[in-house]
Amino acid sequence: MTVTDSLKVAMLGGGVVGSQVARLMAENADDLAARAGARLELVGVAVRDASRPRDGIDGALLTDDPAALVARDDVDIVIEVMGGLEPTADLLLAAMSHGSSVVSANKALIATEGPMLHAAAENNSVDLYYEAAVAGAIPLLRPLRESLVGDRVRRVLGIVNGTTNYILTKMDEEGAAYDDVLAEAQRLGYAEADPTADVEGLDAAAKAAILAGLAFHSSVSLDQVSCEGISRLSQDDIAAAREAGFVVKLLAVAELVGDADGEGPEAGIVVRVHPAMVPRSHPLASVRDAYNAVFVEAEAAGQVMFYGRGAGGEPTASAILGDVVAVARNRLAGRPGPGRSDYAGLTVLPLGRATTRYAVSLVVHDRPGALAAVAQVFADGGVSLQSVRQEGGLEEGVPDAGLVVRTHLANEADLRAVVERLRALDEVKEIAGVIRVEGGPDL
Ligand code: NAP
Ligand code: HSE
Repeated sequence: MTVTDSLKVAMLGGGVVGSQVARLMAENADDLAARAGARLELVGVAVRDASRPRDGIDGALLTDDPAALVARDDVDIVIEVMGGLEPTADLLLAAMSHGSSVVSANKALIATEGPMLHAAAENNSVDLYYEAAVAGAIPLLRPLRESLVGDRVRRVLGIVNGTTNYILTKMDEEGAAYDDVLAEAQRLGYAEADPTADVEGLDAAAKAAILAGLAFHSSVSLDQVSCEGISRLSQDDIAAAREAGFVVKLLAVAELVGDADGEGPEAGIVVRVHPAMVPRSHPLASVRDAYNAVFVEAEAAGQVMFYGRGAGGEPTASAILGDVVAVARNRLAGRPGPGRSDYAGLTVLPLGRATTRYAVSLVVHDRPGALAAVAQVFADGGVSLQSVRQEGGLEEGVPDAGLVVRTHLANEADLRAVVERLRALDEVKEIAGVIRVEGGPDL
């Protein structure tokens, strides 16, 4: 097949992801041309230091002037793998105003400035695609936007950050130290430029916002996602979960709440990111290293699971090139692909409206009535207990006992109120930890 058309592609960023995009574009040029219907010609790569050679990128393409690159009227597609909010947002607005379609891997930007960027794409009749922004290589956004568009999604739940999953896997399986494994994740190209975004849950929260927006046809921004990372987890927390038959994972959850259909005056969605204990028998427990996995639960389809490499230059480049081919086809067809859909306008509700299970670890004075007093606080707060495990105490010659109380499904606000009342109880010496438990029989 001879392809005579060609499309010009500019790239912002030539780091971990950008260098792999450039390499694959060159290595697979003939196949990509046949699939897109036009040859994809890389005409420039903007980096901070254009004097530094990069594997996989022709040195003649490097420039340190991204503004000039996006101002070119002959560029059809701009790939953004530069990261950050500024000057990136302005560069993408400039690119679209010059008629270029945009393919981005930048979840922080999309979760923060998505509405503005989508509006610019619509106004300029160009595409804004960002499959690579969520869960690396895994095709997830297009299935949500297209394949599941005929169904009603009720819940999206999964592991969407490769760095933290890598860290938690190594801590769980090898007892490795947090700082050592984080450094290794950075070396492997999984972590963000500032890894705080990974370990504090912000990267996963940005992805959760994007997933929630697509799944529920509503506008969800990063600041509406309740977010707790893994930096406060200790090796003891992970070992205790292990002993109880669980593994700790950083989960992103977006779900309808309200009446049974997610409807009614109090209805909306809750979007949350936090560490959670997952039973070892659950499929998410076997998602190891930098892999990601996402369950989508839809009314008619039931559960659909997506699994694959969630981070790293090459897997991410795969998702980017998928978008580039899709965008190229749209340009050749003379019209942009499907844009955003936020017609449902669901309210993003506070974390207090979430319902899940909890494990509360307490240190209590081991004396008659202590367990009963603790149980009474849960009962008064309307939180039903699933199990209670006691360790230590007078029988082992110490005055205090460790209690781990696991609950049935409970409302987050109710659980928080119970924890506050427990803190004030004479029998309770310390609340050692509260962690959510996901992946029960209803997942
Ligand atoms: P990276 O290795 O730090 O690369 C960033 C690139 O952008 C570098 O080439 C850098 O130039 C260039 N750059 C940054 N700021 C610039 C500026 N103001 N002007 C010109 N060039 C600039 O980052 P990465 O890991 O490839 O990630 C890039 C994006 O992809 C981020 O949005 C990230 O969230 C996203 N992403 C990454 C992964 C992953 O696994 N790494 C996966 C999915 C999505 P220099 O090289 O000269 O510093
Ligand atoms: N830092 C991100 C992660 C890259 O670890 O998942 C992929 O988005």
